[in-house]
Amino acid sequence: MCGIVGYVGSKEATPVLINGLKKLEYRGYDSAGIAVLSESADEILVRKSKGALKFLEAKIADEVIKGSVGIGHTRWATHGEPSDLNSHPHTNVSGTIAVVHNGIIENYAKLKAWLQDQGIVFRSQTDTEVIAHLINYFYEKSGELFKAVLETLHKLEGSYALGVVCTKYPDRLIAARKESPLIVGLGKDENFIASDVPAVLEYTRDVYYLDQKEIAVLYSDHVDLFNEDGEKIHKEPSHVEWDLSSAEKDGYAHFMLKEIHEQPKVLDATIKAHVVYDEKKNPVDLTFSKEIESDRINEMIQNAKRIVITACGTSYHAGMVGKYAFEKFARIPTVVDVASEFRYRNPILNKDDVFIVISQSGETADTLAAMRLAKENGAKVIAITNVVGSTVSREADFVIYTLAGPEIAVASTKAYTTQLACLYMISMMFGYKNGKLPEAEYKKLLNELIKIPELSQKILENQEDVQKFASRQFNKSKIFYIGRQFDSASSLESALKLKEVSYMHCEAFAAGELKHGPIALIDNDTLVVAIATCPELYEKLVSNIVEVKSRGATTMCITQNKAEMSKACDEILEIPETDSTLESILSIIPAQLFAYYCSVQKGIDPDKPRNLAKSVTVE
Ligand code: M6R
Repeated sequence: MCGIVGYVGSKEATPVLINGLKKLEYRGYDSAGIAVLSESADEILVRKSKGALKFLEAKIADEVIKGSVGIGHTRWATHGEPSDLNSHPHTNVSGTIAVVHNGIIENYAKLKAWLQDQGIVFRSQTDTEVIAHLINYFYEKSGELFKAVLETLHKLEGSYALGVVCTKYPDRLIAARKESPLIVGLGKDENFIASDVPAVLEYTRDVYYLDQKEIAVLYSDHVDLFNEDGEKIHKEPSHVEWDLSSAEKDGYAHFMLKEIHEQPKVLDATIKAHVVYDEKKNPVDLTFSKEIESDRINEMIQNAKRIVITACGTSYHAGMVGKYAFEKFARIPTVVDVASEFRYRNPILNKDDVFIVISQSGETADTLAAMRLAKENGAKVIAITNVVGSTVSREADFVIYTLAGPEIAVASTKAYTTQLACLYMISMMFGYKNGKLPEAEYKKLLNELIKIPELSQKILENQEDVQKFASRQFNKSKIFYIGRQFDSASSLESALKLKEVSYMHCEAFAAGELKHGPIALIDNDTLVVAIATCPELYEKLVSNIVEVKSRGATTMCITQNKAEMSKACDEILEIPETDSTLESILSIIPAQLFAYYCSVQKGIDPDKPRNLAKSVTVE
């Protein structure tokens, strides 16, 4: 949801800002803009353009914008259509203060009306413009920029990550955050702000992850940090371990394809981080000791009466797989809730509930709100997240990281499979420790789990089959995914992937539900993809496939049992065999590839699907 960058140093700011925005374009791409303090500091040079960043680049290609302090923005529109006028940065009337913003100012209408009463004429339809005018209003009263920003922040309701520059203070850049993520990059004689680490990684690995309501004032040679009351605070910078190459395409046509292909590697890292081996190198146990104090977690497992999982989108689908895993391995009743629903239905929480939140970004507004509500009600929260330093990671009681590396493509792939790996591991650990999963079974599962990365590689080696299948099916008017149990969760995620990147109309159904209504939709222009990895349910699924085939649908099956399922299906995408409960990590990979290739066939950029943003930091 919008990306912001900022620079103060001795280099020309413009190329640094544009470079940073390129790394953040996944956060929003309907317009982009920069504001650079002119060398003489008498004006702010604002350039902005509707559309992808390349249009802004083209606009400024023949221009030399000189100045070494600036801010930039790539937008995912919330208030006001994508247009040059609504693009950020926004300025006060005289153009002496410029602001970039990520988030939503919920009380902007009231603030705008009040400012209009003071005679301010607004130029855009955005909520952000009020911030520039408010800072100006308070600045005119006190003559101090920091004080004016502070007073403005106190008036804002909603979420923000902000970058502010002002001609009267040409040596600095002010940044602040509430809800929306913001980091400060610490360079040598230069400092940066950004919505995400990749934007600064070319220049520094040392960053501050700003906490709620913290404010940073950046100069070229140092950074001062403040709390919401304007009192100076101290915090230690964090060192980023991963490489910039993790955030680049590495020769792949798209980030989505690259990230699908990274799955064997990142699954291996995520699983191996927790597996304990005996002296003969057999996997014998799991440890979460790095993240979780074992006494506290043991107590939690022994007392657990119910697992409550909350997340959004793909992470929610991972939670659905988690439900089956917890109920199977640990025999603990498990409910899964969409985070945006959970927070508004006065949920019933008990002290013996174990609350799990799943969030790739660790910044999803609804997931954060659900987690906070659970904590307020006394629940202990385990978070599964991919981003070190994210809000979820800082506020949860226990954190388990998916070691997926930065996920840039909007459509989540490697984060999902590593989330599944974590959920399998936690549920197995719960089952083993609460005595519901016998030791022999536990060790057998561990043995299978560590082979999953290698098996996922085998699927990728056969990606051409999926590509060919996509080239035959990409113009079907309707696509349905069906499955039972674990496979019904995988169907939901498969359908979401296809919708997101190919815009094809695709739905997922628990296969048994077909005849209760959805079968009415089946005709000759329908593709039905069955996911069949539960051996005890093959027969039932075969019946469902026969039912849709006899009504004209083309059928395809993702399964480890080609012999059984080819009896009914037109086409099979075979996946390797493992313990059937773990197959969900594998069965999603052909579906991810199918979505990717349908997108490419349709001429869509799968990395930047329309209307979507990577990280949904607003409600
Ligand atoms: O960062 P999170 O895991 O909290 O994000 C949740 C959803 O917004 C996200 O999974 C979304 O559905 C993706 N676009 C899926 O590909």
